[in-house]
Amino acid sequence: MSGGELRPEGSSAIYPSLAGRKVIVSGGGSGIGEGIVEGFVRQGSAVAFVDVQEAPSEELVARLETAAIPPHFVHCDITDCDDYGHKIGKLIERLGGCDILINNAASDDRHKVEDVTSAYWDERMAVNLKHQFFAAKAVIPAMKAAGGGSIINLGSISWHLGLEDLTIYQTAKAAIEGLTRSLAREFGRDNIRVNTIIPGNVQTPRQMRWYTPEGEAEIVAAQCLDGRILPVDIAAMAMWLASDDARYCTAHNYWVDAGWR
Ligand SMILES: NC(=O)c1ccc[n+]([C@@H]2O[C@H](COP(=O)([O-])OP(=O)(O)OC[C@H]3O[C@@H](n4cnc5c(N)ncnc54)[C@H](O)[C@@H]3O)[C@@H](O)[C@H]2O)c1
Repeated sequence: MSGGELRPEGSSAIYPSLAGRKVIVSGGGSGIGEGIVEGFVRQGSAVAFVDVQEAPSEELVARLETAAIPPHFVHCDITDCDDYGHKIGKLIERLGGCDILINNAASDDRHKVEDVTSAYWDERMAVNLKHQFFAAKAVIPAMKAAGGGSIINLGSISWHLGLEDLTIYQTAKAAIEGLTRSLAREFGRDNIRVNTIIPGNVQTPRQMRWYTPEGEAEIVAAQCLDGRILPVDIAAMAMWLASDDARYCTAHNYWVDAGWR
């Protein structure tokens, strides 16, 4: 499934302000991240992304190799924050700066509270929360030097709904909204905007592991709108938020959930 396919053909927005912008995406190899990488590439942005999954990431790069500026992939485990920070530094050198950071990588493994160890807590926080802070820290000097930037953190509707078997994931996702507001305040005078996108349930290859057709039907029944949200729908919000059209939008949550309650 292509995460960034335009629907219907040719009708999606092109933002002139995104052409040539330097974009770094975490977890860009599959799912929503893939849609975001593809979306920014279609805008004519210079996109670099990191992921632990080599095969889908390389397939994505191959699929987009004829783009005006093809994306660049680097293998990286974002839970090793020192290595990730070092790789972000190299990507900034390669791109010649960083205007847009999309903190997308995460892992929504299910767990029972009684099975959680201290080590598991730390590992889940590392994959779902810690890297967002350190990636922001790593790009902020380049954004300041460029006169501004846009940081977009992927949150989640899950903790707003209070879903089962996701306690640590939901705790991390709740914290991301606080991180967003804190960074937006800290760096607003540098013209760095920081926002959270809150997806509802988005149909990705990984999500299909968790949901049966009956489970998907239950989600759609709880939405206000019919149909399944796709990565392209989250990418559309990310591109608008990153564009100059959203220049006075910061410190807030932007929901793409089809009205799921
Ligand atoms: N899909 C949904 O329904 C949904 C709902 C709410 C929030 N979200 C959020 O949206 C974002 C993307 O979700 P998704 O469904 O596409 O997730 P996904 O699991 O399909 O994709 C996440 C990507 O991150 C990568 N990744 C995971 N661990 C990594 C690591 N240690 N180092 C580097 N890369 C790593 C994965 O390989 C994958 O390519 C996440 O932040 C997620 O929490 C998704």
